[in-house]
Amino acid sequence: MAHAPLRFGLIGTGRIGQVHAAGIAADPDAVLAWIADPLVEGAQRVAAAYGGIATDSAEEVFASNAVDAILVASPTSTHVDLIARAVDAGLPVLCEKPIDLDIGRVDALRPKIRTAGVPVAIGFNRRFDPAFSSVRARVAGGEIGTLEQLTIISRDPSAPPAAYVAVSGGIFRDMAIHDFDMARFFLPDIVEVSAVGTTTFDPGAREHRDYDTAVTTLRSASGAIVTIINSRHSAVGYDQRLEAFGGTGSLHVANAPTSLVSLSTATAVEARPPYEPFFLERYAVAYASELREFIKLARGEASTNPTFEDGRAALVIADAAQASASSRRAVAVDLA
Ligand SMILES: NC(=O)c1ccc[n+]([C@@H]2O[C@H](COP(=O)([O-])OP(=O)(O)OC[C@H]3O[C@@H](n4cnc5c(N)ncnc54)[C@H](O)[C@@H]3O)[C@@H](O)[C@H]2O)c1
Repeated sequence: MAHAPLRFGLIGTGRIGQVHAAGIAADPDAVLAWIADPLVEGAQRVAAAYGGIATDSAEEVFASNAVDAILVASPTSTHVDLIARAVDAGLPVLCEKPIDLDIGRVDALRPKIRTAGVPVAIGFNRRFDPAFSSVRARVAGGEIGTLEQLTIISRDPSAPPAAYVAVSGGIFRDMAIHDFDMARFFLPDIVEVSAVGTTTFDPGAREHRDYDTAVTTLRSASGAIVTIINSRHSAVGYDQRLEAFGGTGSLHVANAPTSLVSLSTATAVEARPPYEPFFLERYAVAYASELREFIKLARGEASTNPTFEDGRAALVIADAAQASASSRRAVAVDLA
C-alpha cells in the first residue's frame, strides 16, 4: 500500500541535526514539516535548504498537530523530556544517543516507554553501517562458528575542546557508548565490565579528570569477551575497526580507504591519504539506513532500530566502565 511521506518534526539543527535534515529531505518516504532550534537562525537555514517551518520552540512543533514523528537531535540534557513529550503526544520518536548521562533519569522514564506503546528508537547509527551489519549477519549465520572474542577499535581523529569534555559525561558515556552498543549488537547479554583509563596527551581531559585513552573489556553471559580500545585522537584519521573471532574463523572490518590512488616511491610503498575525517563522512550511509528503518518503525512495520532498552543498556555499561576505571575492579552489570 502506498503511504504518504512521514512528516517529521526535527528538534535541534547542530552537527547531527543537519545530517538528519538532509537525510529526511533525500528520502522519498519522508518530509521535513517542522524544525525547532532556540538558535532560530539554524532552524531557518535548514528550512531554507530542505523545506518545513522553522521555530525557536520545540513546543510549537508538538502544538502544530502537523507532524507524524519526532527526531530529537538537540543536546543530551534535553532528550528525556523530549522523548516523554513525544510519547505523550503519541508520536514515534528517533532520539540521538545517549538518552541521558544520568541513569536515574533514564530509569524514571522507563515505565512510560514500556507501557505507552509508542515506538522509541535510539540513534546508535553504527548498527546500520553495511560492514558491521554484514559481519553481524555472517556471525549469526554460523560462518565463524561460535563467537568467542570481539575486538572493537574506535579512535576519534582529535580530542574535543576542553569545554566539551567538561559537560560530556566522560569518555565512556560520551564516546565509548557507541562501542558498548556495537558490543551488544553482537552479544546483548553483557554481565561484567572492566575498564582502564589514562590521560596520555589531552590537557582538557586532564583538567576535567577524564581519560583520553581507555580499554574496556566486557564479559558476556556466553563467556565471550569483548575488548574495546578507545582513544580521543588518531593521527591517521577516524579509526573504526572490528574483528569477530570464532571457533572456525574470523571476520574483520578494516578502515575504508578514502582514495583508490596510492603512491610508491623509494622511501615508501602504497602511501594513501588518511582515513575519513570523522563520523559524518564515515557513517553517511549508516545515517540514511537508520532513518529508513525508523520510517518503517513509525509505520508499525518490523524494524531493527535500537530500542530505548538498548539505549539504557549502553548507559548502564558506560557507568560500570567509569566505576571500574575509578575503582580498578571488575563491575557486574544486570541489564534486565
Ligand atoms: N549518532 C551520532 O553519530 C551522533 C553524532 C553527534 C552527536 N550526537 C548526539 O546528538 C546530540 C546533538 O549533538 P550535536 O553534536 O549535533 O550538538 P550541537 O551542539 O552541534 O547541536 C545541538 C543543537 O541543538 C540546539 N538546541 C539546544 N537546546 C535545544 C532545545 N531545547 N530544543 C531544540 N534545540 C536545541 C542548539 O542550539 C544546537 O543547534 C547529542 O546528544 C549528541 O550526543 C550523535
